[in-house]
Amino acid sequence: MTDQQHTSTNWTDDNLMSLQSHILAEERHHPSATGDFSWILSGISLATKTIASKVRRARIEDVIGEAAGGPFGESDGINVQGEQQLKLDIIANEVIKACLGSRANIASLVSEEDEEPTILRSRKEGGRYAVFFDPLDGSSNIDVSVGVGTIFGIVRLPTIPGVRGTDAILHEDAQMAAAGYVLYGSSTVMVLTTGNGVDMFVLDQSIGAFVLVKRKLRVPASRKIYSINEAYASRFSEGVGRYLDWAHANNYSSRYIGSMVSDVHRTLLKGGVFIYPQTHDRPEGKLRLLYEAMPMAMLMEQAGGCAVTGTGRILDVTPNALHQRVPVILGSSEEVAHVQRCIDV
Ligand code: AHG
Ligand code: MN
Ligand code: MN
Repeated sequence: MTDQQHTSTNWTDDNLMSLQSHILAEERHHPSATGDFSWILSGISLATKTIASKVRRARIEDVIGEAAGGPFGESDGINVQGEQQLKLDIIANEVIKACLGSRANIASLVSEEDEEPTILRSRKEGGRYAVFFDPLDGSSNIDVSVGVGTIFGIVRLPTIPGVRGTDAILHEDAQMAAAGYVLYGSSTVMVLTTGNGVDMFVLDQSIGAFVLVKRKLRVPASRKIYSINEAYASRFSEGVGRYLDWAHANNYSSRYIGSMVSDVHRTLLKGGVFIYPQTHDRPEGKLRLLYEAMPMAMLMEQAGGCAVTGTGRILDVTPNALHQRVPVILGSSEEVAHVQRCIDV
């Protein structure tokens, strides 16, 4: 073999990297993590691979449509958000809890679909993290095969004696240490940060593993795309109205899928700004802080973008309720600045 052939492959960087091996390699940056993340993320990987297969077989297995009343008929199918649960919302929720419940370092689970947190174990029993998740985001789009996803955040809980359960979850010292989403789209894509940049994986069905396809994703600093549900234009604040007038006058394109994971994934890869603002009838907006806004904000900032509520960073908000809603403006740094400038006039 000529020298050229020997150097044609960079064996140290170009090798096939699974999610598992990538996380173990990443943990070198977190001496205190001691395998914690890999243990939790392997549970999230198993859960989302399972959900991916159920989403893709939903029509075949006839689990499209509204939940009659929970997996065991216990609810009327209306969740804590006051929204109609879909069968797949509940199925995805149960799958994630089944996969994470056995991970010995998780203290509690906070789900969009459960009014109260699932408390698994105390700190004395080894519980150090909470996992926040939206088991199936954008689920109203399931029946028309639009991309839906799972959003998750891994939160290191404070070690203050006597602070446990929901108090620990909502405590100002609770720190989101990892975040990500899995998009069940034309391919099953996981986008993940453990605080050292953003990496992207695709589920390779032939080997049943998420494989690394892109390291250190960076969101473009600018892109003339805004993503907002303009059907609510009459209820937006004057500032958001000013921004839309400015964008229309500056040849922006509008892209809105109505599934946060899909809209954020496009924004992350192509740039632009995603906005779910407050409206006169929803002064806090619609999106939930703990398991939609915060994980997406961590990803966006780790990729060099911005994520604000209109009055400050999303990651600076100290939560006061599990299902608290916040306005969301996130994406390319320059595009978020344009929105903020119009709000601040
Ligand atoms: P979920 O399906 O978890 O309830 O989330 C739906 C959210 C989010 O995915 C999307 O950005 C937003 O709802 C769309 O809301 P509108 O239909 O009001 O635009
Ligand atoms: Mn959601
Ligand atoms: Mn959801």
